[in-house]
Amino acid sequence: MKFSKKTRGCSSRSAVCSSQSAVCSSQSAVRSSRFTIYHLHFAFCIFPKLCMATLVIFCSSCQKDPTYTALYRPTPYTIEIPRFFPTELNIPDDNPMTVEGVELGRYLFYDGRLSGRTSSDSLMSCSTCHLQINSFECGIAHPKFLNGHPFGLTGIPTPHVMMPMINLAWTMNGYFWNGMVSPMNPSPAMRNLEDIAWMAVVAPHEIKGDTARVAALFQSIKGYPGLFKKAFGSDRVTMKNIGRAIAQFIRTLISANSKFDRFMLGKVQLTNAERNGYVLFMTEQGGDCFHCHGGAGNPLFTTNLFYNNGKDSIFTDPRDRFSVTGNPDDAGSYKAPTLRNLSFTAPYMHDGRYKTLDEVLAFYNAGLVWSPNISPLMHHIGTNGIRLNPTQLADLKSFLLSLNDSSFVTNPSFSRPAQFPDDF
Ligand code: HEC
Ligand code: HEC
Repeated sequence: MKFSKKTRGCSSRSAVCSSQSAVCSSQSAVRSSRFTIYHLHFAFCIFPKLCMATLVIFCSSCQKDPTYTALYRPTPYTIEIPRFFPTELNIPDDNPMTVEGVELGRYLFYDGRLSGRTSSDSLMSCSTCHLQINSFECGIAHPKFLNGHPFGLTGIPTPHVMMPMINLAWTMNGYFWNGMVSPMNPSPAMRNLEDIAWMAVVAPHEIKGDTARVAALFQSIKGYPGLFKKAFGSDRVTMKNIGRAIAQFIRTLISANSKFDRFMLGKVQLTNAERNGYVLFMTEQGGDCFHCHGGAGNPLFTTNLFYNNGKDSIFTDPRDRFSVTGNPDDAGSYKAPTLRNLSFTAPYMHDGRYKTLDEVLAFYNAGLVWSPNISPLMHHIGTNGIRLNPTQLADLKSFLLSLNDSSFVTNPSFSRPAQFPDDF
């Protein structure tokens, strides 16, 4: 409610006004506050004097309020939960999904003026690094970001390589490799997807901009204030609403149409190699991957939890999971990323140390390194790896590739808009 108090003139001078402020701040609140208004109308008929008094306060205070408009009728956007996916989604109450919010978020995600600047050499948006064709990573073949390692407008490289931006509406316990943006973060400004936009705008290794300047710039661009009004009831552009819109767009980025998904729906058969690979993935004596990376029962293909998967014995990264939890056992631990769309997301691991999937598989097969921090789920550490034969490894790889979803990386709803609001 901090937002609605700040952006609106309506204080809690009357019951009508406080219910109006709920109208401005969230769409789920729209329904309940309309309900309240109807009830008040009913009361007005019974107590006409009260009615008159309240109406005067209502009109005088809300007329001054530029943010409330009777035209604010956003259309709910329903996320279709793919079959077998978990049904619980991370959508905060104060940012319900709306068609208008998602549309605005898509423009902002792709608009280089998110840098707060307008000259062509200083444009940068989320899409500068997060490219749809690479499952929203920059990709290993990027002409500028060599070896898949991006850097910001100032040239400072990001501390880690990128993560696939897939199915993030199901992430409950922390975004980023170390899970820093989570409900557990002591700072309320770093707890959910909504907060990542301003973080990217100010980060020295990303946009290195100024949130006030960004908001002022979009305020001045023809077409944008109207879209903010449609999405949030106010044509005043704020960084908070920029973050809300972008978060709504990111929550629509659902990948659930791989060959394996279609196999689960009974629409296609897997090849023998893919099927053998799947069995290896799911068995402890085989590849033993499922504990951390999901499977048929968890088609996100990640548990979204943090593990030390045995790559090193000395941990010096100041941004590992330990840096977030303060628990020394978490040194060298990172989020187990989803294994969907691996063909598009090289290089692999938080530091991009493996350039190919074969390198990753060689590591799990025979390259594990023991340390006191290694996850107890790395059951094959005694033999430094899962020790599959070459045919089995090839089968495991075939299965992993059956998790590629090429319709996701070409879905026009997720792509760069052909026109921006000021081109209309
Ligand atoms: C300079 C390149 C760059 C830009 C620009 C950028 N990002 Fe990122 N993004 C990254 C990198 C690198 C990571 C992985 C960071 C980490 O975990 O250490 C990341 C991670 C993320 C994640 C977390 C994904 C997950 O699975 O937890 C989200 C969400 C995200 N970015 C959203 C955005 C948004 C929204 C914008 C625009 C406002 C943006 N990014 C701009 C490089 C960039
Ligand atoms: C103990 C949990 C655990 C197990 C078991 C495990 N992984 Fe991982 N996996 C992780 C973690 C954690 C990461 C990220 C580590 C990092 O970034 O440093 C990861 C990263 C990966 C990546 C890189 C993904 C990317 O986008 O960078 C691939 C591919 C992968 N694992 C495949 C497998 C396969 C195949 C198996 C079984 C042979 C397996 N994993 C077993 C935890 C696990």
